[in-house]
Amino acid sequence: MSFTTPYKVLCVCLGNICRSPTAEVVLRHFCDAHQLNIEIDSAGTSNYHPNKAPDLRSQEHALKRGYDLSGLRARQLQTRDFVHFDLILAMDNNNFDEIQMLYQTASREFGTGQLRAKVALMSEHDTQYPQQALPDPYYGGSDGFERVLDQCESSSQAWVHIFKQQIESY
Ligand code: 4NP
Repeated sequence: MSFTTPYKVLCVCLGNICRSPTAEVVLRHFCDAHQLNIEIDSAGTSNYHPNKAPDLRSQEHALKRGYDLSGLRARQLQTRDFVHFDLILAMDNNNFDEIQMLYQTASREFGTGQLRAKVALMSEHDTQYPQQALPDPYYGGSDGFERVLDQCESSSQAWVHIFKQQIESY
């Protein structure tokens, strides 16, 4: 991690309309609060909702905590994301496996030496939700959307702690 070029993080779920847009905005909030120069984006492993705004339920629950998701638009994860981003965060284990499969395609397309991205779970360093999958709220009720926000806030703070350690040891 350098002080000049922003470190780049991509949050990835299945549809890019519930969990990963929430993770993008929550992680950005905590990075900004700690004045970390980090670029954050999100994407889905599927192309179910291209160019769609986040699910209205996600938007409404997030807004109650002060997070505005309205400007985001869904897109599918691309092989070039493995070249551009330093860290790709999977929201659950299925996402993690899909990301790893596309990593193989990207390494054939660009060569392994060109790929920057490390892949980890969003909850990798989260002591409150240790390596737990972020449950998909899409087919459930409002408690699922609150759980996504709770877990995104907890996991984001854990990542901020890690990013600060990396900067201090640089
Ligand atoms: P997400 O949730 O992966 O958190 O964005 C979902 C959104 C849409 C669908 C599944 C999960 N879907 O099947 O359309």
